[in-house]
Amino acid sequence: MAMQRRVKTIEQAIAETDDPGHQLKHELRTIDLISFGIGVIIGTGIFVLTGQQAAVNAGPAVTISFLLAGITCGFAALCYAELASSVPVAGSAYSYSYATLGEVIAWIIGWDLLLELMLGAAVVARGWSAYLQTLLGLPTWMAGADAQPDFAAAAIVVALTALLLLGAKDAGRFTGALVVVKLAVILIVIVVGLRYIDTANYRPFIPPAEELPPGSADVLRQPIVQAVLGLEPTAYGVYGILAAASVVFFSYIGFDIVATTAEETRNPQKDMPRGILGSLAICTVLYMAVAATITGMVPYKELNDADPLAQAFETLGVTWAAKLVALGAVVGITTVILVLMLGQSRVLFAMARDRLVPERLARVNKHGAPSTITVLIGLGVVALAAFVPLSELSELVSIGTLFAFTVVCVAVPILRRTRPDLHRPFRTPWVPLVPILGVLTCVWLMLNLPVETWLRFVAWMAIGFVIYLAYGRRHSRLAPGVPPSEAPGALKTPPG
Ligand code: ALA
Repeated sequence: MAMQRRVKTIEQAIAETDDPGHQLKHELRTIDLISFGIGVIIGTGIFVLTGQQAAVNAGPAVTISFLLAGITCGFAALCYAELASSVPVAGSAYSYSYATLGEVIAWIIGWDLLLELMLGAAVVARGWSAYLQTLLGLPTWMAGADAQPDFAAAAIVVALTALLLLGAKDAGRFTGALVVVKLAVILIVIVVGLRYIDTANYRPFIPPAEELPPGSADVLRQPIVQAVLGLEPTAYGVYGILAAASVVFFSYIGFDIVATTAEETRNPQKDMPRGILGSLAICTVLYMAVAATITGMVPYKELNDADPLAQAFETLGVTWAAKLVALGAVVGITTVILVLMLGQSRVLFAMARDRLVPERLARVNKHGAPSTITVLIGLGVVALAAFVPLSELSELVSIGTLFAFTVVCVAVPILRRTRPDLHRPFRTPWVPLVPILGVLTCVWLMLNLPVETWLRFVAWMAIGFVIYLAYGRRHSRLAPGVPPSEAPGALKTPPG
């Protein structure tokens, strides 16, 4: 079957944001966006992965891994900022792809974002439950890694779904309050931790590369680049820093979600670049400071723990700080789940408005929230978080996100060529150099993810493609022969 390429015009994408019954409210400001950004970026990554990656891959040089992952995100963020300010519609990477690369790639990205957002929310809810269990000493059948079903994870997702039904503004206020607590805890970790730094712990800063004993590495868990090139698995050294960068990349996931709220922003031309770049810059600095602090507090080999930040303080006898870190983790991770679900609802909303999923899902309630979509996402995340063991799926979340970043970096130079006339309130500097560096660094991080992650990713994308052929391709707004009542701009009655 020959597939005709369907590309939506930017003007069409923007005009559709005024469809009756499908309008989101324009009420977010820069401060709300930075708060959403920090709310979703700082979470399980910094509270767990910093210590683990220092212990197994990078040693104290995990600080450099955070810098490398932050730079990769910086290239992508500059591209997101240009697209979000010039095409301020819900749906972010999905919508930009529709307007540049066409419907098939847009669907693939929309489907891919389910991994980042919905699966991401479930993975993070599971982490939240583990911290809550530690903090409150809850019974292990109720919360934590061994709970099956995980009642605590399910409960937090239900509560946050209810909050999302009240609209983005209330979600923003709630996030803002919790973000203040989260930032305070992170700053206390840095300031108190500084007093306990022993510079001997920084030597060696980059531990020499160690070959792993033969047979110790499962080929499915090996980075795909190593498996394909037949390289011997190693830990530490320069390669260890790069491998850790791929893993700690998870900590940065979220700045891109700020772009999904573009349509609800008062002045997206200014607020979007500030929100995206501001939240990423703040988090990069905080992450490097936290990584440098805890690897200075205890020898890196002692940090391979489920709760390394708290453990570092516990080891040094600073119990009050350990408790505070656990509290900060519970509070902090709450906003990550919330904003991931918010982003997911906006992407699905955009897809429903385009009829790649049933259009009736795009109705909004009186608070401006797409209610059916929000409830369906809540149910999906509850099911995943309560019943599916998710510990290894965080890498699937990362690969899905890196793929979306790659497409966004590709979209910027394409749109510059196809629409040189478009008003671009924010321009990515040094195009095409920055987008090319963005693509190369994202692909490099993807290649450092394990073989099994790639297999899962390819399977997921194949399923998505079949669904597109079976449903989206035929029902799309851009499908030939769409009845006049279903033509763009005439959406008063949902089909079906
Ligand atoms: N960046 C988010 C976290 O670290 C997903 O939890």
